[in-house]
Amino acid sequence: MSELTKEEAFLTLYTDLAREGPGAAADPAWALSVAATPAQARIVDAGCGSGADTVTLAKERPKARIEAVDKIGHFVAAAKRRTAPFGERVQVRQGDMARLEGPYDLIWCAGAIYFLGVTEGLRAWRSALAPGGAVAFSEPCLLPRPSAAARAFWATEYPQISDVAGIRARVAEAGYRVLGEQMQVGDAWEAFYIPMAKRIATLRPGATGALAEALDAAEAEIARWRAAPSEIAYALMVVAPE
Ligand SMILES: C[S@@+](CC[C@H](N)C(=O)[O-])C[C@H]1O[C@@H](n2cnc3c(N)ncnc32)[C@H](O)[C@@H]1O
Repeated sequence: MSELTKEEAFLTLYTDLAREGPGAAADPAWALSVAATPAQARIVDAGCGSGADTVTLAKERPKARIEAVDKIGHFVAAAKRRTAPFGERVQVRQGDMARLEGPYDLIWCAGAIYFLGVTEGLRAWRSALAPGGAVAFSEPCLLPRPSAAARAFWATEYPQISDVAGIRARVAEAGYRVLGEQMQVGDAWEAFYIPMAKRIATLRPGATGALAEALDAAEAEIARWRAAPSEIAYALMVVAPE
């Protein structure tokens, strides 16, 4: 194989993964219920990756119109393939989730709002929400009394992490209130890391250069997670404008 660029190596690692971040199929259903999202809703999956949650949202709300947006064309193409069976009511496009227009009854954003910042993202999305609309997002969350292993994981992955009170404060700063929150620990992370570990094992033989570096980095991340799997969490927050 000729040498890959860093970006090509990243996309090679992520090809064929079911999802690009932690999350479980039960999460969108929970958020739709907490947000009381209507049957004929307009929903957007912001930072959809390859569309794992877009598919779940489409199944959970069979009469809804669903948009999915991601900035990376490779993921957009994968999400288009996965959502093709739903026909016209699911539209996937390449774009910037900071510039959503709406109106949407639910903005779903799994493991991606940190690219904008919680406060900044919520502020940017306010005008894209329909009356009564809500935002559901997941964000790294430091659980109480973290062990050294948990601290080591986040020191590498997301040093700006806060506890749930810190996330609530960023929500309030954006002018939103919390409708519901739950922690994603264990299953949601296995759904991301176990398939990734298998993908690394497939790609490892003969891997050199940027690909070998990407595999090493992902393997080290998984090892740090395995050192404290019951302590590594995302907070899944459902919030609405005040
Ligand atoms: C960690 S992945 C999560 C993907 C998916 N939500 C999931 O849970 O599998 C974050 C995604 O956000 C996308 N992203 C980051 N910044 C973005 C932006 N400004 N506009 C659109 N997508 C963005 C990335 O391309 C990536 O696919």
